[in-house]
Amino acid sequence: MTETIEANGARIPLVGLGTWELGGRTCARLVEQALRLGYRHVDTAQIYDNEREVGEGVRASGGRRADVFVTTKIWPSHFKPRDLERSAKESLARLRLPEVDLLLLHWPNPHVPLAETLGALAKVKREGLARHIGISNFNVRLIEEAVRLSPEPLVCNQVEAHPFLDQTKVIEACRRHGLAVVAYSPIARGQAVRDPVLIEIGKAHGKSAVQVCLRWLVQQGIAVIPRTAKIERLESNAAIFDFALSDDEMARIARLAHPRGRVVNFAFSGTPEWD
Ligand SMILES: NC(=O)c1ccc[n+]([C@@H]2O[C@H](COP(=O)([O-])OP(=O)(O)OC[C@H]3O[C@@H](n4cnc5c(N)ncnc54)[C@H](OP(=O)(O)O)[C@@H]3O)[C@@H](O)[C@H]2O)c1
Repeated sequence: MTETIEANGARIPLVGLGTWELGGRTCARLVEQALRLGYRHVDTAQIYDNEREVGEGVRASGGRRADVFVTTKIWPSHFKPRDLERSAKESLARLRLPEVDLLLLHWPNPHVPLAETLGALAKVKREGLARHIGISNFNVRLIEEAVRLSPEPLVCNQVEAHPFLDQTKVIEACRRHGLAVVAYSPIARGQAVRDPVLIEIGKAHGKSAVQVCLRWLVQQGIAVIPRTAKIERLESNAAIFDFALSDDEMARIARLAHPRGRVVNFAFSGTPEWD
C-alpha cells in the first residue's frame, strides 16, 4: 500500500481512497479508518462537498501529515485566475490544512484560456498552497497544450481508467510527458464485481474480481483510487500487491474494453469531444 509512482518530482502512492459521494460522519470515518489500515493517499474535490470531513478523517487518524498524500480539485467554474486562487484557499480552509499534496484542474473549461488558469495554478503552487499540480479529464490534445503552457511541471492526469475503457492514447501521452496516470472509477463504479473474466482470473489467484481489476491497473504503473462506503472493503481493495497477473491475463483483461465502456459521462459544458 506504500508503493508509489514518481512523476515530475512527485511520489504518488499507488493506492488511494476515492471519496466521491461520501459525506458527513461516514466520510470522516472511512478516511480515518483507511489511513489507520495503511492507505497513504486520499482523493477529494471541491464539488464533492466533503473536504471538511476528509480533513477531519486525516486528523482523526493520528498519523503524521507528511505520510498522507491529499489531493483536491478545483471546479471549472473557478478557473479565472482570481477565482482559482480564492477557491484554492477556501479548499485549504475546509480541509484545515496549510497545503495539499496535489491540486488538480477537475475538468477542462473551454470558456477560460488554459494559459491563464495554468498560470494561476502555478502561482498557487509557488505560494506553498500545493506541493504539486496537475490536470484531470484532459484528452490527448489538451494534455499536449497544458504541458506546453504550464509554468510549473504537471505531475498527473486523473482520468477514468478500468478494463472496460481503452485509454491507451491518453496513457501514452501522459507517459511521453512524465505525468502519472491516476485512474478514477477504477472498478467501473462497481461493474468489475460481476465481470466473468475478472472473476475467473481471480479464482486462479485466490483474489476477487475487484482485486484483479485494480491489480491490472497498478501493474501498468497506474495509481488507483477506488471508493467504498464500507469499512470492511477497505482492506481487500488495497490487498493487490501480493500477486501478479501473467502477460496473457493482462492481455485478456485489456480485451474487455468496448466503445461504450465509459461510466462517467459528465462533461463540463462545452468540453471538446473526446479523442
Ligand atoms: N476526476 C474526476 O473527474 C473523477 C470522476 C469520478 C471519480 N473520481 C474519483 O475516483 C474515485 C473512485 O471512482 P468512483 O467512486 O466513481 O467509482 P469506483 O471506485 O470505480 O467504484 C465505486 C463503487 O464500487 C463499489 N465497491 C467498492 N469496492 C468494492 C468491493 N470490494 N466489492 C464490491 N463493490 C465495491 C462501491 O460500493 P460500496 O460503497 O457499497 O462499497 C461503489 O458503488 C471517486 O470516489 C473520486 O474520488 C474522480
